[in-house]
Amino acid sequence: METTMQRRDFLRTAAAGAGLMVLPSGTLFGAETPNSKLNIALIGAYGRAIAHYDGLAKENVVAICDVNEEHLDFAAEKFPKAKRHVDWRKCLDQKNLDAVVCCTTDHTHAFVANWAMNRGLHVYCEKPLANSVEEARVVRATYLKNKGKLATQVGTQRHSHENYNRVQELIRDGAVGELKSACAWGDRQIRRPGYPAGQGKPPKNLHYDLWIGPSPLHPYSPEYFSGEPGANCLQWNMYWDFGSGQVGDMGSHTMDIVWNAIEAGLPLTAEGAGDPFNPEVTPVELTLTWELPANDWRPAIPVSWYQGGAMPKAPADYVNLAKINHGAMFKGTKGTLVSHFERRFLIPNDEDGDLTYYTPRTKDTLLPPVGNFQTEWFNACKGNLKTSCDFDYAGKMIEMMMLGLVAYRAGKKIDYDGANGTVTNSPEAQALLAREYRKGWKLNG
Ligand SMILES: NC(=O)c1ccc[n+]([C@@H]2O[C@H](COP(=O)([O-])OP(=O)(O)OC[C@H]3O[C@@H](n4cnc5c(N)ncnc54)[C@H](O)[C@@H]3O)[C@@H](O)[C@H]2O)c1
Repeated sequence: METTMQRRDFLRTAAAGAGLMVLPSGTLFGAETPNSKLNIALIGAYGRAIAHYDGLAKENVVAICDVNEEHLDFAAEKFPKAKRHVDWRKCLDQKNLDAVVCCTTDHTHAFVANWAMNRGLHVYCEKPLANSVEEARVVRATYLKNKGKLATQVGTQRHSHENYNRVQELIRDGAVGELKSACAWGDRQIRRPGYPAGQGKPPKNLHYDLWIGPSPLHPYSPEYFSGEPGANCLQWNMYWDFGSGQVGDMGSHTMDIVWNAIEAGLPLTAEGAGDPFNPEVTPVELTLTWELPANDWRPAIPVSWYQGGAMPKAPADYVNLAKINHGAMFKGTKGTLVSHFERRFLIPNDEDGDLTYYTPRTKDTLLPPVGNFQTEWFNACKGNLKTSCDFDYAGKMIEMMMLGLVAYRAGKKIDYDGANGTVTNSPEAQALLAREYRKGWKLNG
């Protein structure tokens, strides 16, 4: 692997001098070459992956990988030339790859992402990027090591709604005055008592042991596979060994409205409260709060996440936040901004109602639109490597979210040293930063 990567680096430098670039597969790419397509492996080829098919069809899908062979059959109709795999580790060994799109279960995202980057491949990974604090940190570190070579994107495609830019501008330009707090929430409630009881044998087409992958073995149940394509994640993502419930699910999308605006570093503290702890199932009702350090345009602020019935206090009694299923709110010294994915509204404090404290942007100074989110990543792989939700930006956010779950599980407010990734006041919480994996599975292989 080392020699292949060294060769690529050499070719990259030589090609750059000639106005060309070398894709990870070793293919020359650029305006002067006939080749303008990426060789992509689609890992997790059904369900959420279907939403990626049309975009992917404009590139070369050279590999498809799924633990369910019927899902492979389905994907093969769209990508008949792609080589088929059931084990993503073998798929990543295929020699002609440039990039990977990963749409598998949450508990395998960080694995696939790390392994792919370690093989010099660009990665688009569905949200959530990680399933523990450790996973978030390792993926981010692997990305930062390869930042000058690889383009990464976490699948929070709502980020391309222009509203995200507008919210960022309003907050940074002072439309709520000095920012004092921010939060996001989601109202989804999927209650389960515990892992489903084992039921029957996995069907022949399903490689169940590979589906379990690095997680502890739970007996097969058809319940894990009983959802609609694209929403089947709601059949397994509430169980600790396979996901993080709504924290990683809708939390990845909705907290992104806040994260995009506040320019945050890793949290200094975390605390969480909600449903009584269930060792099998993540909580439905939950409030998480972090203290985020100051930066050069705002003070240190608390940021919170509410889910499953927990809600922030509305800024005025005539505002019903519960009408917004997935929303975000920013409170400042002059007013409050409330937003959902596509729209927002600003409520100045009574005495600041004339808004004279704030100068709106002119049209020509608005942030440029992200455009199509998937295309942003394709273009980044072929060009400047820049995306709006790379593994540094999104990795820090999911680290914060996962740390919140650690505090909830530890049942106390924890102090966090983000530089070293350690909890400084609770050995019990420290022990919860990482997950245990089944023998034979390596996070950063
Ligand atoms: N960005 C979004 O809006 C959005 C929407 C839905 C789902 N998602 C994310 O997409 C992911 C998949 O969700 P889903 O509902 O499609 O789930 P799913 O259970 O249907 O799984 C998707 C596909 O991956 C396959 N798969 C599972 N584990 C695999 C493995 N280890 N190796 C190879 N293939 C594997 C499954 O067989 C299936 O074909 C989740 O992480 C979810 O959070 C994102």
